Amino acid sequence: MHDYVIFLHAIDTQGPRPAAVIRDHCAHLDRLDAAGRLIAAGPFADSEAGGLIVGSFPDSEQALEFAQTDPFVKGGYSRAQVRRWEWSYPENGHLGIVDPFPGSHPRFLRSLHLRATTRHFSPRPVTRELVELLVAAALAAPSEFNLQPWRPIVCHSSTDRQRLQGCCLNQAQVSNAGLAVVCAVDPDVFEDQAPRAADELILHGQRSPEQRDETIAYIRSCFVNPQDSAIRNGTIFAHQLLLAGLSQGLAGFWLGGFDQGALRAEFSLPTRAVIAGVIGLGWPAKRNQPRPRQTMEQLVGWGHWPGA
Ligand SMILES: Cc1cc2nc3c(=O)[nH]c(=O)nc-3n(C[C@H](O)[C@H](O)[C@H](O)COP(=O)(O)O)c2cc1C
Repeated sequence: MHDYVIFLHAIDTQGPRPAAVIRDHCAHLDRLDAAGRLIAAGPFADSEAGGLIVGSFPDSEQALEFAQTDPFVKGGYSRAQVRRWEWSYPENGHLGIVDPFPGSHPRFLRSLHLRATTRHFSPRPVTRELVELLVAAALAAPSEFNLQPWRPIVCHSSTDRQRLQGCCLNQAQVSNAGLAVVCAVDPDVFEDQAPRAADELILHGQRSPEQRDETIAYIRSCFVNPQDSAIRNGTIFAHQLLLAGLSQGLAGFWLGGFDQGALRAEFSLPTRAVIAGVIGLGWPAKRNQPRPRQTMEQLVGWGHWPGA
């Protein structure tokens, strides 16, 4: 996803614009906004008629298509000029010139509210390059003692997605999405790789080399129930993968309806493996509206169990 500026130059600077065309133009902008991709829009406030739109698009063709289907352009009121644009703001470190503040993209909070499960996808493929970008972002998730116990099974090819669908109660969204990932975790990592985690703590000055053995023992002692830890760590990975997809204009789903035995057999998972869930992502056929949530008053307790 890249940012683009669309200049709408007025063809007749004095000519009136019918209210219906202005409304259609606003609806056009609203659709981009509903997808979380409208950054700014508005008319020039000086004597020159016209305006600009700043938005995120997967590529220049789609930015151009959006510009050319704007009712002002289609109706012959404006001429569109599209430029790729780099947005400099404090949270991205002014394009890396100073240290960025992670996770604080101005649209990030809004995007979380716009997410909605999507089960219908366009046939447009998710490229291997994009899949690797998303998986790398998911692998940046936090894990207990940074042990990274994730062992995801990426189902990218149509054959692999079909195989997975067969294990997921035949839910059609699995093969229709361009990408489906079994978010599996190896709980043995908590025991086996405790020395690596201890060495990392020593390397970062959080423990002294003399404390190595006791640190390893301490790390191991934290995993009384490795299955719980596996679910916890796997879930964080999975949701980070989903959000990474959203950040690139994809949409998708969480899936917990699968046949454990069938999935384990089909993908040769070891008996110890824990499956946190399946995440699917693809280019949406249409944007779903977010479903309402219960109120904060219903769900949240401030210093006590909610409602107590
Ligand atoms: C852990 C988990 C498992 C889910 N499993 C399925 C599933 O097997 N099939 C399905 O159609 N939707 C599944 N969903 C999607 C939920 O039904 C959906 O998230 C919920 O209705 C809220 O809708 P929203 O995601 O659009 O906000 C699952 C969601 C989660 C979080």
